[in-house]
Amino acid sequence: MAAPKTLIAGNWKMNGLRADGVTLAKSVAAGAPAVVAKAELLMCPPATLISLVSNTLAEVLRQGLVSIGGQNCHPEASGAHTGDVSAPMLADLGCKYVIVGHSERRTNHSEDDPQVWQKAVAAQQAGLIPIICVGETEAERDRGEALNVVRRQITGSLPDAAKAGNVVIAYEPVWAIGTGKTPSLADIAEVHDAMRALLNEKMTDGDGVRLLYGGSVKPGNAAEILALANVNGALVGGASLKADDFLAIAAAA
Ligand code: PGA
Repeated sequence: MAAPKTLIAGNWKMNGLRADGVTLAKSVAAGAPAVVAKAELLMCPPATLISLVSNTLAEVLRQGLVSIGGQNCHPEASGAHTGDVSAPMLADLGCKYVIVGHSERRTNHSEDDPQVWQKAVAAQQAGLIPIICVGETEAERDRGEALNVVRRQITGSLPDAAKAGNVVIAYEPVWAIGTGKTPSLADIAEVHDAMRALLNEKMTDGDGVRLLYGGSVKPGNAAEILALANVNGALVGGASLKADDFLAIAAAA
């Protein structure tokens, strides 16, 4: 099976007022034609900006130069869930993807694997591609448990209907997120190879699932990380807030 197209996903987290969002989205869109042959570009703005970004980039989205995604969704399609956003709502705004189980959600909102599984299923039912985030804490890595943690999280959160084209997995070691620290290339390769093996046990087309690395990805380290055999893209936080950096990461693919 041919290697899946590289996905460079920007997680804006809780950043940006409307003017910032429009400026950033337009700048990324302006640079997209130069990198689109190498990678699919995805922007995941905060929920408040999705509609604005989606409208601003309507033509660019139609051309497939960039994609838009959410950062989280509720497991249910609608109901009495104050402050939450559902997967069909994100789809209605033009989203193609949604991040689920990010470590900041797991930590700040006590999300566990069964909840992440529910969200991933809800995303697929709404026609979205869930980007399921997994990754060990520093203490777990020090205890030699990184591979077991990642395998357990994938097993606990992968929808039964998962196929190569309807799910993405992001390996994000918790201790590498926003810290400037990254695992060694050998450590990233070890985890990604183990994830690939696990997916091939669970699915007939596991080789086609895109496996992203996330955690302090920047222009200076993107090329070597993206060159690893089972790394099919990156989930980028801080560096996705600067269009030049985000585009440089995509150009390194
Ligand atoms: P970072 O965040 O690139 O700022 O480390 C990555 C993420 O949380 O997805």
